[in-house]
Order: sequence, then structure tokens, then C-alpha cells
Amino acid sequence: MKRNRPWVERIVDRLWVEITPWLEDKEPVPEKGESGGSVSGTMSWPGACRALAIDKTWSSRGFRRRRAVREVVETLAPVDGRFFATWLKTHGPHWLDDPRVRAAAEWGDPMKAPAILLGTSHPWSPSSLRYLAHAVWLMKEGYVQRGGRVIEIGVGFGGLAAMLALVADARVTLIDLPEVVAAAQSCMKDLGLDHHLLEARTAGREDLVVSNYAFTELSVALQDSYIEEVLRFSGRGVILSNAEVFSRGIGGRDNRALMAALSAAGIPVREWADAEIIAPSDRLCRNTLLAWKS
Ligand SMILES: C[S@@+](CC[C@H](N)C(=O)[O-])C[C@H]1O[C@@H](n2cnc3c(N)ncnc32)[C@H](O)[C@@H]1O
Repeated sequence: MKRNRPWVERIVDRLWVEITPWLEDKEPVPEKGESGGSVSGTMSWPGACRALAIDKTWSSRGFRRRRAVREVVETLAPVDGRFFATWLKTHGPHWLDDPRVRAAAEWGDPMKAPAILLGTSHPWSPSSLRYLAHAVWLMKEGYVQRGGRVIEIGVGFGGLAAMLALVADARVTLIDLPEVVAAAQSCMKDLGLDHHLLEARTAGREDLVVSNYAFTELSVALQDSYIEEVLRFSGRGVILSNAEVFSRGIGGRDNRALMAALSAAGIPVREWADAEIIAPSDRLCRNTLLAWKS
């Protein structure tokens, strides 16, 4: 569902898109990854995570200002940030001032949008607001219970995992490329949240599997292996799908094909295109939510 964007929104986001590259840390650019089968696996992103967590040539300071990181996970602009902040003010305002949440939001030193644009009392990275809002929404809708278990596929640097640990006291299994898992583990450790991490294992009926902007960037073969090994055992699932952006380019599944594959595996998936957590940029990109609860 597209909508005409007010000109103020267009200008604010355009300014962000034009100005923030000047503030990026561009050098050195890690070598591109060789992990086929996914969009970000062949970018400089896995190398950035390796530099942080394995070679330790980079520190977390400025990590989220690196171009190799920004192009994969720091992708939102202030209009989305304001959308998530507004939603949080209704559904969990105390989290916006919680010191541990704010520490998680600031891990990796992201670029922050001014408070006045977001309508908050502090500046925030728009992506950090997304992680927080998604965690609060997953709890509000009963996809994760307090102290519950979550398996996240495509964890990025661990932004959502950290927020789920703080908001829901969740225990999280991180699934991603090895160097990316190492980066997310080091983020959780820095935040004193590593006791929330669970070893890789098979899902159970009580588990939530979540994958935002990640499962739908994978090849059909990789999706099939996760469906076979993880998703079909999970009682609940939420996939924030950007398949409309990527599926054609990577020869992957569009939303219809993905829902057919999930249904064929016995997963009672439904599309929830008007879920309240779908942000303005999601609508522009025709992103949607695929979810199940059994
Ligand atoms: C666009 S990022 C989204 C990250 C995070 N979910 C977020 O919302 O910020 C896509 C993620 O998919 C991960 N990915 C790439 N190949 C993967 C694979 N084979 N298995 C699991 N995750 C993979 C990338 O490393 C990256 O962390």
C-alpha cells in the first residue's frame, strides 16, 4: 500500500541521506564476503564483523558509522525513527528513557537523528528505535513471553537481540554468518547481556523464530534448510519480509512463493500487511509481515 509522502518528510529524509555519508567512516573497506546465497554475505559487511569480533582490529567505537555496516543495518532515516518513537510513546514510553535500553541503542556509536525531529527527549539512531519498537511489539502481540526463547535468523550486530533481552528478559539463539554471530555476541557481552544467549539448537513449540529483513534476502536453498532445521519446529514466527525488494534480483522467493513454501512445511503462516509496526519505508518498499502462531 503506497501513500504520497508529505513534502516535509521527503525533505527531512533526503537531507539525512545526503548528509550522513559525509559523517561515515569509509576506510578501510573490508574485502567483500564470499558467502553466496545471501545479499549481505557478498558485501563488505561480514569483513566488518570479522574486524570487530575476530581480528579485533576495529573497536565498537564508531562501528555503526562504518560504511560497510551502515549499508546493511543502519538503513533508516528520521521519518521512520519518528514513526517508531511515536508508537513507543503509546505502547512503552518508559523504555525510551531506560538507561540500559539507551546503552544498547548507543552501542557501536551510531549516527543519531536530533530529538526534535523524532519527538523524543534524546537523539536516537532511527534503527535503534526500530529494534526497540519491534521488541516491544513482539511482546505486546504475545509472540514472545517474559523469559521466553527466541531464535533470530540474520541477527545483524545484535540490535534486536539486545532489546529482546532487555524488554522481554528473552533468551536468544543467534543465527547468522559466523563472523556476524561473533560480532553480535561481542555486542551482547559489552552490554552485559551475554547470559541471555543460548547455544544453537532446534526450535520447539514454545519458541519464537524471528527474522527481520534477513530471511527474505536468502537463496531458496538456504531458506529451505532453515525451514527444515528450524522454522517447522517453531510454535511462533515473525518474518519481516523485504522479498519485494530483493527476490527478483537474487532469483529468490517472492512473498507468495515463500508463504507457499512455509505452508507446505506445515507452518500456519499468514500475511499481516497492515500490522501496526510496518513503518513508512516498509510501505514504500512493499515490505510486509509474515507471521504464525500455533
Ligand atoms: C539486512 S541485514 C538485517 C539484520 C538485522 N536483522 C536487522 O534488522 O538489522 C541481513 C542479515 O542477514 C544475514 N545473513 C546473510 N547470510 C546469512 C545466512 N546464510 N544465514 C543467516 N543470516 C544470514 C546478514 O549477515 C545480515 O546480518
